[in-house]
Amino acid sequence: MRHLILALFIACAPTFAAAERADYRVIPQPKSVQVDDSQAFTLQPGMGIAFDASDPEISRNAHFLRTWIQQLTGVQLAMTPNDKKAAVRLVIGLDADKKLKKGKKGAAATTLTEQQQEAYTISVDKSGITIAARKPVGLFRAAQTLRKALPAAEQSSIELPFVRIQDEPRFGYRGAMLDCARHYFTLETLKRYIDVMALHGCNQLHWHLTEDQGWRFEVKALPELAKKGSVREQTVIGRNTGVYDGQRYGGYYTQEQCRELVNYAAERYINIIPEIDLPGHMMGALYVFPNLGCTSGPYPVWPHWGVSREVLCAGNPETMAFLKTVIGELCDVFPSKFIHIGGDECPKERWKACPKCQAKAQQLGLKDDGKHSIENQLQTWINHEMEQFLRERGRDMIGWDEILEGGLTEGGIVMSWRGINGGIEAAKQHHRVIMTPTTYCYIDYYQLKDQWSQPLGIGGYLPASKVYSFEPLIPNQISEDEQQYILGAQVNLWTEYIAYPEHIFYMLLPRLDAISEVQWCRPDQKDFEDFQKRLPHMLKVYDRLGYNYCRKVE
Ligand code: ACM
Ligand code: ZN
Repeated sequence: MRHLILALFIACAPTFAAAERADYRVIPQPKSVQVDDSQAFTLQPGMGIAFDASDPEISRNAHFLRTWIQQLTGVQLAMTPNDKKAAVRLVIGLDADKKLKKGKKGAAATTLTEQQQEAYTISVDKSGITIAARKPVGLFRAAQTLRKALPAAEQSSIELPFVRIQDEPRFGYRGAMLDCARHYFTLETLKRYIDVMALHGCNQLHWHLTEDQGWRFEVKALPELAKKGSVREQTVIGRNTGVYDGQRYGGYYTQEQCRELVNYAAERYINIIPEIDLPGHMMGALYVFPNLGCTSGPYPVWPHWGVSREVLCAGNPETMAFLKTVIGELCDVFPSKFIHIGGDECPKERWKACPKCQAKAQQLGLKDDGKHSIENQLQTWINHEMEQFLRERGRDMIGWDEILEGGLTEGGIVMSWRGINGGIEAAKQHHRVIMTPTTYCYIDYYQLKDQWSQPLGIGGYLPASKVYSFEPLIPNQISEDEQQYILGAQVNLWTEYIAYPEHIFYMLLPRLDAISEVQWCRPDQKDFEDFQKRLPHMLKVYDRLGYNYCRKVE
């Protein structure tokens, strides 16, 4: 018995690895890392973190850092706001700016780019760790870098080699999309998605909220919309096999939940861009309001995958009233400067045959000019109305690259998904662009050649190496002057075949690591072989934090 108790005691006792050293070769790789491996600072439990406690944002970041260090290493630090001699110090102000100020009066007043606002430095020397940034967001980015550099196992103390890190991101827009309409995911899962995004320096969560297979955003003026439009009677098994599971499936987000998520994301410096996909992909809404379709229905919430030919009727004045009600409430809930109106995959078959749609086209004086069909121009008219409506609320409209097809509206931002050509065309027209081509950014595709080793997916083959190789500025085809219109890049995770959180993270990781270097690093810093050497430590971090991931990388 005594032996059994002893054995149990040994098995349950925390195991301390021999003190591991921090390793600053993290993902995404900082702009500059100068390490002096011959010297190290030892961070020990009980040492303090100093910060400006009068600033809630800085205080929050200090608490994040403390939590993260404890989660990864077990080392617990103390919060010691006013201790100038604390081992870890969070400071606002960069040395580079101070020098600039001394040299030239007023130089620091020049407006900073988004990326410059996120700049930070980390210095480790015999006095400890100094994290400095222009803004609290920079402190957050720095804390993420420091966290990833730490050993991902219980430690009694942590050795940090002396270092000087200087960093700022390459692109201002660093996104990831999650489709919560084909399948519904809980707020808890969304928060984990946000945490993982923040770990990789991402700053835009594109939230796809409505689909043929379900409407997931509560609209208070239209209570039936989400209540009924979010539920499909059953779901097809596999890839449109014609066999259904017979299970009702649904779920939607209340406005209160949306606000909770917006706040959670904002605390992690992530903006949420909501998408209401219009005028196609609307079966969720058409089920509830069949009068908004060209044929008046009845329409089911779709139980299978694909693109429905049933879309909102462009000629029915109730359609525009409906859209303004929905987008108005969307703007009330989401403070995002960018609002996504979808616009992809809207078949025009119904519009061509619909007297109301054709009368509207005539009233607008639309004519086929050889480049833009009447129906594509009719969609542009809808986009134009939406753009104006959003502008009155101080917002900018994003649409999938189909918004080019009927002629781009004045301020439309193009999300280039059917390859890069839409993005190139829009940049040449001096429109802002987000690059998310299927060939590099669709992480619903398989990531390994051997499909049978992976859960059923939509198809395709997009290994991490291919994601990593993406260059969003397309230097051969977009002039240097026009490259300024490329805001950044994004990965998209569509969820027809993804119903569970573990599967989300399996698809996301480590391809998010790959895109994070596309989004954050300069091209001359990128090297896939080197990336692969840095990845195993990230995987240990995922193990430690309980994130599922794909164990093989191609
Ligand atoms: C899309 O993948 N339909 C934007
Ligand atoms: Zn119609």
